Amino acid sequence: MKTSSKQPELKTPRLILNQFTLDDAPEVKSICSNKAIADTTAHIPHPYTKEMASEWIQAHKDNYQAGKSAIFAIRVQSNNRLIGTISLEIDQYCDRGELGYWIREEEWGEGYCAEAGKAIIQFGFEHLNLNKIKAEHMTRNPVSGKVLEKLGLTKEGHLKQHFKKWDIYEDIAVYGLCRADYTS
Ligand SMILES: CC(C)(COP(=O)(O)OP(=O)(O)OC[C@H]1O[C@@H](n2cnc3c(N)ncnc32)[C@H](O)[C@@H]1OP(=O)(O)O)[C@@H](O)C(=O)NCCC(=O)NCCS
Repeated sequence: MKTSSKQPELKTPRLILNQFTLDDAPEVKSICSNKAIADTTAHIPHPYTKEMASEWIQAHKDNYQAGKSAIFAIRVQSNNRLIGTISLEIDQYCDRGELGYWIREEEWGEGYCAEAGKAIIQFGFEHLNLNKIKAEHMTRNPVSGKVLEKLGLTKEGHLKQHFKKWDIYEDIAVYGLCRADYTS
């Protein structure tokens, strides 16, 4: 697994995936303050503050350079609007990345997550040289499973009451795609 010192920019037909800057903190706060985003993600608190957004963004560069994660802002090419994030948390020993994502609620259902996901999976296998990409979602969030299936990941398991969110033990679905099964 390798990371170069500078995180590259990825382009898709409609999107640019690049680094967040501190100027994005107010927009990140605005998107993540929506309880519908916090509700189905593992680590977004509610309420969510601008300071949380700034702290999150500030850690990205060092974590990329250390090979721990690759976190991209998702922006619409036509107007440069920030609409979400897509990321890989990296297990360097196992050459494995874990996908994470959220999209601004007004933009759901436009195919943006799947479009960004295709690009970051290619980046994970071809640039980071990962052997496997995995993802997890709460089973009450089946849309996330649809996104993963569209990206070529297959369901590998169901973990009962595996994660606690808002004081409720949530069932988790686990998905994966190995390099050997990946076709770009
Ligand atoms: C999950 C999430 C990122 C999906 O983003 P999105 O940009 O709306 O997803 P896409 O438009 O790329 O959808 C991809 C596929 O998912 C399915 N899908 C999307 N929205 C759907 C809906 N409302 N109902 C059923 N299926 C849906 C479709 O199969 C779609 O493919 P298609 O467009 O070819 O039919 C978004 O709902 C979100 O941010 N949710 C809150 C945060 C979250 O749950 N993150 C994931 C944690 S595991």
